[in-house]
Amino acid sequence: MSARHHDTQTKAPVLEVTGLTKAFGAVQALSGADLVCPRGEVTALVGDNGAGKSTLIRCITGVHPFDDGEVRFNGEPVRLSSPTEARARGIETVYQDLALVEDLTVWQNMFLNRELKRGIGRFGMLDRRRMIAESQSRLERLLVNMPPVRSRVRRLSGGQRQSIAIGRAASWGSTLVIMDEPTAALGVRERESVEQLIGRLRDDHIAQLIISHDLEQVMRVADTVWIMRRGTTIAHWRVADVSRERIVAAITGADGGNHRATTAEAPTTVVE
Ligand SMILES: Nc1ncnc2c1ncn2[C@@H]1O[C@H](COP(=O)(O)OP(=O)(O)O)[C@@H](O)[C@H]1O
Ligand SMILES: [Mg+2]
Repeated sequence: MSARHHDTQTKAPVLEVTGLTKAFGAVQALSGADLVCPRGEVTALVGDNGAGKSTLIRCITGVHPFDDGEVRFNGEPVRLSSPTEARARGIETVYQDLALVEDLTVWQNMFLNRELKRGIGRFGMLDRRRMIAESQSRLERLLVNMPPVRSRVRRLSGGQRQSIAIGRAASWGSTLVIMDEPTAALGVRERESVEQLIGRLRDDHIAQLIISHDLEQVMRVADTVWIMRRGTTIAHWRVADVSRERIVAAITGADGGNHRATTAEAPTTVVE
């Protein structure tokens, strides 16, 4: 099946951001950012350093309060006040690093911060066994090179770690997984296995938002690309309808702002 298949049932917008603004003192980090992440699609967010990409996802996930605008999750306006609240709603974020605890095992990391909610720990062996089994079955379905779930994270490669962090984020009923530069620290092979994982999560109908500097990667894995410049999302295209050169021109401003015409010709639509 094509990576950009058109299955009408998977196109409902999970996330819709409209006119988001955010200032840090005198710095206007966001000045009217829009974004749509449909179910079962990979949405890429690209832009130069300082464009406001990380601030945008932090405002969506409740790390920072935003000043103005609207965030809708599954059609409902939300103002999340913490990443914990975001997680409770099925929004998970994976960062480039600091994702896993090195001295814990794979399965312990899978269940990290889930113990209290599920009452795990009070039930001893039985839950331990269940956590190991659940980590195993969940991860082996997603990962190509599955490390033993009892191995400590510090013994794993960077790619395995990042795959487990993403696999964990996509578990527990998540509907939106946000990744900020998930492969920036990885080698080519490792990057490929993370990209395969992204493809599997798409097949699971999870909405994914990926920030990436790697435009070749964006062209490989994304369905839609949104361009951010100086706090605003200035254009978006279906990846199938745009060239890498045009994306670069929009990022740098070399197109003189002449991106709206193409956006209008090839609008991103969630109604197919
Ligand atoms: N916590 C913060 N406090 C003050 N300024 C910030 C903070 N976070 C980001 N900024 C500023 O907001 C702008 C956007 O930054 P950021 O969202 O990190 O951009 P990107 O992720 O696209 O590189 C930059 O000018 C940055 O310096
Ligand atoms: Mg950033």
